[in-house]
Amino acid sequence: MKRNCFHLEFEAPGIARAALPGQFVMIRSGEGLHPLLRRPFSIHGAGNRRVEVLYEVVGQGTELLSNIKPGELLDVIGPLGNGFSCNSRSVNHGQILVAGGMGAAPLLFLAEKMGEIKTSGLHSPVNKGRGRIKVLVGARTKGHVLCEKEFKKCGCDVTIATDDGSRGFKGLVTDLLASILSTVNRQPSTIFACGPKPMLKAVSGIARKHGLAAQLSLEAHMACGIGACLGCVINTKTGYRRVCKEGPVFDSSDIIW
Ligand SMILES: Cc1cc2nc3c(=O)[nH]c(=O)nc-3n(C[C@H](O)[C@H](O)[C@H](O)COP(=O)(O)OP(=O)(O)OC[C@H]3O[C@@H](n4cnc5c(N)ncnc54)[C@H](O)[C@@H]3O)c2cc1C
Ligand code: FES
Repeated sequence: MKRNCFHLEFEAPGIARAALPGQFVMIRSGEGLHPLLRRPFSIHGAGNRRVEVLYEVVGQGTELLSNIKPGELLDVIGPLGNGFSCNSRSVNHGQILVAGGMGAAPLLFLAEKMGEIKTSGLHSPVNKGRGRIKVLVGARTKGHVLCEKEFKKCGCDVTIATDDGSRGFKGLVTDLLASILSTVNRQPSTIFACGPKPMLKAVSGIARKHGLAAQLSLEAHMACGIGACLGCVINTKTGYRRVCKEGPVFDSSDIIW
């Protein structure tokens, strides 16, 4: 695992059974009063009664979580939120997944599900030519690239972008996306993206320019995670929406940035 990043796997049969890509869980990371609130984490994988989460230590909650030992009990609620929307028709039309930093966490689960949809009874092979799911992984440096091997294991066609050019395309993953979309003959039907807000805003602009749909997984500070506190609202064309309840995945054309 990359420095400061941790992979957590826990047994939670109910969550594992119901989880959809793009949904998240709220995890309480300590037993004391601090931090009091559970923290939101995207579902990175689910199956066989287990749920996986990939996270980076950024503060007290994630620091405490990183000290948890095998066999300890965790306070978790989920699956929460709406998740990405994809079906066999859209999957076989060609998709592009754009991950910025930790945004790779939910997109790997999505790529796995898309792979399952593609191989379940449909003729287009996952591992050949244009049938492959295209994934763009953006990171600060080559040391920060996440999930490259795992995406490839799902049969995805992976391209890396690093801010400093230490791996792959030199520049922002959104610059890579723009350059790919201007050169490909066959446009994808939908862009699925997760990453920092400025990245998602840029993806939204690129999608609009090319007339493509984009599903964006947004982050917001969350207190309750279940729609009760209104602490996570964003402004959309249809009014204020809760990231934890109506999101975290929004159609890019609905968001007012
Ligand atoms: C739907 C959703 C899914 C997420 N999935 C993941 C994931 O898969 N992996 C992962 O590592 N992180 C994920 N996050 C972010 C994660 O929840 C925060 O990093 C975590 O809550 C930080 O807790 P902390 O106590 O360690 O840090 P804090 O002490 O609470 O904060 C440390 C720093 O991180 C910033 N921060 C905290 N929470 C957020 C947030 N929600 N959005 C933006 N900045 C924040 C704070 O402003 C502060 O600068 C997700 C957030 C959301 C809303
Ligand atoms: S976090 Fe409370 S309503 Fe979204």
